[in-house]
Amino acid sequence: MAPERRLAYAAFIPFLFLALPMLPSDSPSSGGGGGGGGETLDPPSSKYVVRFVEYRPVEEHREYLEDGLRGVAQPLPTASWRWVERRNPAAAFPTDFAVLEICNAYCAAVVDAVRALGRVRDVHADASYSRGVLSTDQPRRRGKLFTAMSFEGEEGGGDKEVRCSPDSNSSSAGWRRKLLMQRSQVTSLFGAERLWGRGFTGRKVKMAIFDTGIRADHPHFRNIKERTNWTNEDTLNDNLGHGTFVAGVIAGQDAECPGFAPDTEIYAFRVFTDAQISYTSWFLDAFNYAIATGMDVLNLSIGGPEYLDLPFVEKVWELTANNIIMVSAIGNDGPLYGTLNNPADQSDVIGVGGIDYNNHIASFSSRGMTTWELPHGYGRVKPDVVAYSRDIMGSKISTGCKTLSGTSVASPVVAGVVCLLVSVIPEDHRKSILNPATMKQALVEGASRLSGPNMYEQGAGKIDLWQSYEILKNYQPRASIFPNMLDFTDCPYFWPFCRQPLYAGAMPVVFNATILNGMGVIGYVKDPPVWQPSEDVGNLLSVHFTYSDVIWPWTGYLALHLQVKDEGSQFSGIISGNVTLSIYSPAAPGESSPQSSSCVLYLKVKVVPTPIRSRRILWDQFHNIKYPSGFVPRDSLNVHNDILDWHGDHLHTNFHILFNMLRDAGYYIETLGSPLTCFDASNYGTLLMVDLEDEYFNEEIHKLKDDVVHKGLGVAVFAEWYHVDTMVKMTFFDENTRSWWTPITGGANVPALNELLAPFGIAFGDKVLSGDFSINGEQTHYASGTDIVQFPAGGFLHSFQLQDNSKIAQDNSRIADTQNTPEKSKYAI
Ligand SMILES: *[C@@H]1O[C@H](CO)[C@@H](O)[C@H](O)[C@H]1NC(C)=O
Ligand SMILES: *[C@@H]1O[C@H](CO)[C@@H](O)[C@H](O)[C@H]1NC(C)=O
Ligand SMILES: *[C@@H]1O[C@H](CO)[C@@H](O)[C@H](O)[C@H]1NC(C)=O
Ligand SMILES: *[C@@H]1O[C@H](CO)[C@@H](O)[C@H](O)[C@H]1NC(C)=O
Ligand SMILES: *[C@@H]1O[C@H](CO)[C@@H](O)[C@H](O)[C@H]1NC(C)=O
Repeated sequence: MAPERRLAYAAFIPFLFLALPMLPSDSPSSGGGGGGGGETLDPPSSKYVVRFVEYRPVEEHREYLEDGLRGVAQPLPTASWRWVERRNPAAAFPTDFAVLEICNAYCAAVVDAVRALGRVRDVHADASYSRGVLSTDQPRRRGKLFTAMSFEGEEGGGDKEVRCSPDSNSSSAGWRRKLLMQRSQVTSLFGAERLWGRGFTGRKVKMAIFDTGIRADHPHFRNIKERTNWTNEDTLNDNLGHGTFVAGVIAGQDAECPGFAPDTEIYAFRVFTDAQISYTSWFLDAFNYAIATGMDVLNLSIGGPEYLDLPFVEKVWELTANNIIMVSAIGNDGPLYGTLNNPADQSDVIGVGGIDYNNHIASFSSRGMTTWELPHGYGRVKPDVVAYSRDIMGSKISTGCKTLSGTSVASPVVAGVVCLLVSVIPEDHRKSILNPATMKQALVEGASRLSGPNMYEQGAGKIDLWQSYEILKNYQPRASIFPNMLDFTDCPYFWPFCRQPLYAGAMPVVFNATILNGMGVIGYVKDPPVWQPSEDVGNLLSVHFTYSDVIWPWTGYLALHLQVKDEGSQFSGIISGNVTLSIYSPAAPGESSPQSSSCVLYLKVKVVPTPIRSRRILWDQFHNIKYPSGFVPRDSLNVHNDILDWHGDHLHTNFHILFNMLRDAGYYIETLGSPLTCFDASNYGTLLMVDLEDEYFNEEIHKLKDDVVHKGLGVAVFAEWYHVDTMVKMTFFDENTRSWWTPITGGANVPALNELLAPFGIAFGDKVLSGDFSINGEQTHYASGTDIVQFPAGGFLHSFQLQDNSKIAQDNSRIADTQNTPEKSKYAI
């Protein structure tokens, strides 16, 4: 059980027990309305995206596939597959993919035959994306979701916000302030008038708005250049208000709700239907068209935890590599940590979080770090910047203004700012100076840091339009590191690093910085990074580096692995200095010579003498299996709308409250990123094993026994639940992969833990327990966990009455089956 989750979830869980529609009620849907029109195959079939290794006219791809499939050794029935025609504007340009409809009965045979063709790169299901966020009784699927804006209650936030916001205040004072704020426009708050006054209004900037469309003759817009159709619906208009609203924030010219860059050329890509459905193939076509038609800025209105959705992630790389500046919201999954949405979490995309008018992070705004790198690496800082996201005024569907809230509102604010800033660079050398890295440099270097939030909440801070303008005005292509200053003595901004000093003998402290290269889409680290301490004591710090082999597109990473050398075991004080490295980019077409640039990263850390053993805790990160390679259900069965465990299970993501509590209690926590055989138990008081999903090697089982029995290591295990019937019930059909997903384990891998603990005569059972108990007069909620069925004689066991939820999960009813159950799956020897 995780104490931190208990706290964090408390805000979300309403006091009703939702019946869990986990078991698919009907058979998997058959592909739906992807691709083009026309007849469909009669037997059940699904659509697939076939990616090719190169762009060609669509007819060439078609002939190639038809010939190729005709020539296979085991002939396929003619009706086993069908070419799907895509009648949309991208058809005029070469393409890199095809959509096929394939009969489910022949799926494996056809897909294998297609995969075997030389020009075919891979085959993926044509996933559907929908904006299902607001229907909280639906389990959250893998894949992308349309980032929600709160449509309910025009003057408030989403329903999440109402329930969980610590700063929502319904007192009349708060209410009055809100009314007052509503009258001030977001453009004024960022000082857009100053740039308008210099004649910058977004002129000749092509802004692609991927959304729900827009009315052609909307009075708020003077420059709707093109509206394109990527759906199967017969309209280009916006019937939802989403697309119009964001276009208004970017380029509206209404006096009541002006946009940032009224002269920006709007290209409205209608990629969502009125039912807010979209398909991978629609997006891929629309993206290709955006590349072919030279868009400058693109703001994407979907996001999700699925960063392994390859066709999508790679297409985003291709877009930014083609010099399209992409802005995306980091998501509305806050205040939990580790909840960044893709693609906003990509280093080549500008990821935007939300604040309110009091410069507080909006409770709904997702929190970093990025979780791609976990469990074995360390995540990067995101968001990049934050902008106002509450009560923002924008255009209504046909005319007039309204207010909305959500990080997806902060994102058009930044997109508007970006369009305005693009127009600062004269049109004839825009493409040679401006690129996704340049723009990100201007935004993060110009941003003003807020005093309360940490870097995983605010990134570089709040957008400062004027400062970013000053940076861009005289910009010379260069590379930089983000963040370029790491002061681990500065709290709370550098949380979690500022919470714990370094000391000799500890596991390395890793910081993963981002390299931004404004010189070219490809770059390399020229000379390896060097640590240059400002004083001699700085040589007590060992800094080891890992970094991108190739910096592409425009961005890469530089990870610092920090350790205090053994000679420093008694040292106490501050160490500071610079990390320097140089980056170069080969000459781009039209350039005569390669460009290079040197970067500096300032580092300041606090060092203390190595703490005594009993104060040192080792956190096992290694035996964590990360989502999304496996379906790991959430530990708490009470969270029904988000069943996947995708927050990283790291001390600095969803366990950050536990981390803070242990630090407050005077413990030092280090992270074990390697097997149990790889640490010296005599250094640590306790090994902490929380919610682990992986299995253990025999060597590890033996070593741990020896560590406990002979080296005096304490072990604390939080075992969670593992109940087969409950797991089977959690199986769901995933539209993205067209396959059934069964959890690879329960909340934790209890059978594996039982193997690990067998030498001690300890075993867990298979109940799913929850309830309240009090210990030393303190009332505590036990969110979920299991029972202890075996324990050595003479051991101490506390027990409490808890409720068995395995029954509830089975029956979907509220049967309280109370058990006499041990308090926690925790023991120490
Ligand atoms: C709400 O406002 C009142 C009066 O301004 C203040 O005393 C109280 O602390 C506020 N509560 C929160 C949660 O901000
Ligand atoms: C959009 O494209 C679909 C599919 O080709 C077509 O059925 C529909 O009529 C088009 N709508 C408009 C407004 O062009
Ligand atoms: C920008 O992206 C956000 C989500 O990432 C979305 O909600 C918003 O509608 C998009 N705006 C535009 C102009 O596409
Ligand atoms: C740093 O982040 C990059 C990019 O996500 C990743 O490839 C790398 O493994 C990370 N490095 C470490 C040490 O975590
Ligand atoms: C570190 O870099 C900063 C900024 O470039 C510079 O001002 C400072 O002198 C450098 N310090 C050392 C010790 O090199």
